[in-house]
Formats: sequence, C-alpha cells, structure tokens
Amino acid sequence: MSQVLFDYTRQDAAGASCTAHAWAKVPEPLTPGQRQDWKARAKALLAKHKAVLVAHYYVDGDLQDLALETGGCVADSLEMARFGRDHGSQTLVVAGVRFMGETAKILSPEKRVLMPDLDATCSLDLGCPAEDFAAFCDAHPDRNVVVYANTSAAVKARADWMVTSSCALAIVQHLKDQGEKILWAPDRHLGRYVQQNTGADMLLWNGACIVHDEFKGLELDLLKAEHPDAKVLVHPESPESVVAQADLVGSTSQMLNAVVNMEARTFIVATDNGLLHRMRQMAPHKTLIEAPTAGSSATCKSCAHCPWMAMNALQGVVACLEQGSGEIAVDEPIRRQALGCIDRMLDFVKRHPGATQTTGLVPNIGAA
Ligand code: 13P
Ligand code: SF4
Repeated sequence: MSQVLFDYTRQDAAGASCTAHAWAKVPEPLTPGQRQDWKARAKALLAKHKAVLVAHYYVDGDLQDLALETGGCVADSLEMARFGRDHGSQTLVVAGVRFMGETAKILSPEKRVLMPDLDATCSLDLGCPAEDFAAFCDAHPDRNVVVYANTSAAVKARADWMVTSSCALAIVQHLKDQGEKILWAPDRHLGRYVQQNTGADMLLWNGACIVHDEFKGLELDLLKAEHPDAKVLVHPESPESVVAQADLVGSTSQMLNAVVNMEARTFIVATDNGLLHRMRQMAPHKTLIEAPTAGSSATCKSCAHCPWMAMNALQGVVACLEQGSGEIAVDEPIRRQALGCIDRMLDFVKRHPGATQTTGLVPNIGAA
C-alpha cells in the first residue's frame, strides 16, 4: 500500500535554500595555478588543525582528490557517517550537504564539524519540514518511521530508523519480515523502489531529489539502443521509468564498484555527474555516458549536477579552517533523539554485512 499525503516538492523560491541562490553561491572556476595554490593552502590548514576531510562523490573533483591525498575519504552517505564517527581527528571538514554534516555531529558531538558552506542543503531535506512531518507521524502511530539520511536532525529525531540508499532495501525487508508497517520519508522514488522490491506496507511522503528526478526513461531507452552493450547504473532516487531499465540500482559507492568490477566496457550512469570524477580515476579504460536529462520528454535540459553540492569548493575548506566558519551545531535534545535512528542503522549494517550488497547483474558488490 502506498499513499501520498504531502507535496513539498516545490521549493521556497526566496530563501537561502532555493536553487538560484545556491547557483549564485557556487564559486567561480579556478585557473590551474589558482587550483594548486588553494589546494596547498587547504592541505596546510588540514594539517595545522589536525582535521580530516570527509567528502561526498558529488563535490568538486579537486576536493575529492584533496580528501584522498590527506587521509580523508570520498564516499557515499553511509560511509561518510561511519568514517567521521570512527576517525580519531577532533575536527571533521564535511564537504557535501548539510544533512551529512549534521549526521557527523550527531554521531560525534565532541568533535568540531565544519562545512565549506552551511547553506548547502538538499531538496529532500527542504521538502520535509519537521513540524509537518511530525503531524504525519502523529496521524499514523501504528507505523515504524523510516527516514532517508537526506533529512534534518529534527526529522530524524522523530524516526525509528534512518536508512541510506545502500541499505534501505535490507532494513525495510527486515522490518517487513517482522510484520511492521512503515511510514517512509521523504524520497518518493526511493520509497516506491523499496516498496516494490520488498512488498512492505509503506506510506510514502512526496519528496524528490531535483537532480535525479530529471532523468528521462524514454530517452534512456533510445540511448540504450545506440549502445546495446552498455550496462545501465541507476541511483534509486531516479524515476520509475529509469530504474526499470537498470542493470544495477545502488548507492553512489555501489555504482562506482560496479564500474570497477563489472566486465562491461561501457556504462550509462544515472546520477549526479560529480561521481564520474572518481569513476574515471578508478576505471580509466571504461567509457562512461551520462544518462539523459533532456529530449522530447523534457521541458529543458538539466545539468545533472546538484547546486548545493556544487557550493563546496577549495576556497570554502580554507575559509572554514582559517576562520572557524561553517560550524555545525545541533541542539542537544534533538541530537540525542536523532542519534537513536542512526545508531540503529549502523548497528544493523554491522550485524548484517550483506545489507549493503546490491542485487542484479553484479552479485556481492557492497559499499566500498
Ligand atoms: P548516496 O548515499 O548514494 O551517496 O546518496 C546521497 C545523495 O544525496 C544522493 O543524491
Ligand atoms: Fe539532495 Fe539530490 Fe543534491 Fe543528493 S543530489 S544532495 S538528494 S538534491
């Protein structure tokens, strides 16, 4: 059973979190010389502050390289959470979007968590305001509340479980096997994908990722005909018509592992194109084609890049370490409540290492 109760897919067009504001805050591209200088400054500051850089695959390639060159990580949201929690450094610089910084802070309140730009948010988080979500939960007290990582700390504080794209299927399957009914928020596409694959009784919030929502099934079908040997990798925040054509549906880490480990030479990739940076590095001889966001079924072409992820830059890393700006704070009562659903997920994936494996053509591919 699925039911749509709310529609928060429209963003606030005026606030600091609208996409126009985000694009306006994306720093100008740097020249090769400037990139070297900023990177050297960021490296020196990370060392000086004994800080570690925890980056998502969608951020600027220079930031990804910096993270790997300085002992940090580039990862999906599950791995970012685990890495930040387990790393000995007392200062984490989280390059990604706000919910990733908040998750790090919730797990490690004693650490200083900095972000290059605190305005970097996510349409899923924006589309699920805590008060409305609480009303949704209050109206369905018989349901287990499962929220996607892409939510605020206040929304997580109402949840029984947090999941990420890499473990959502396994956790919902586990709940279904225990006879639980589920209230799911906020991504409607991931919720539908999980519902269809588990048969669980789920009520779905009506949120979407503005990036993945743009991929087009019709044009993907045509593109596949041009590349009959290509394997199609799809992030589960994508629409049903796109997911239906996937050889592999998975988190960003799972998609990366597929490119590295599958024998195919050509891949069509349906996710934010920031991931292609790491894919090219790890599988330089493979051909990567971005899944279509335009064509006769589109009103316009989308760039397949998240404006909030794009706000992260070397300059922001330097600024937050030099000035102590961009520090994440989470109210202690909210933090303590939100910790429960995150810990439950982390404990589950620890006890069930297979939970992050994908199904489909590539058996046994899990989070890196
Ligand atoms: P992953 O956990 O798969 O990296 O996804 C996070 C995200 O924001 C995707 O849009
Ligand atoms: Fe949110 Fe989509 Fe951006 Fe990921 S890509 S942070 S889901 S808006």
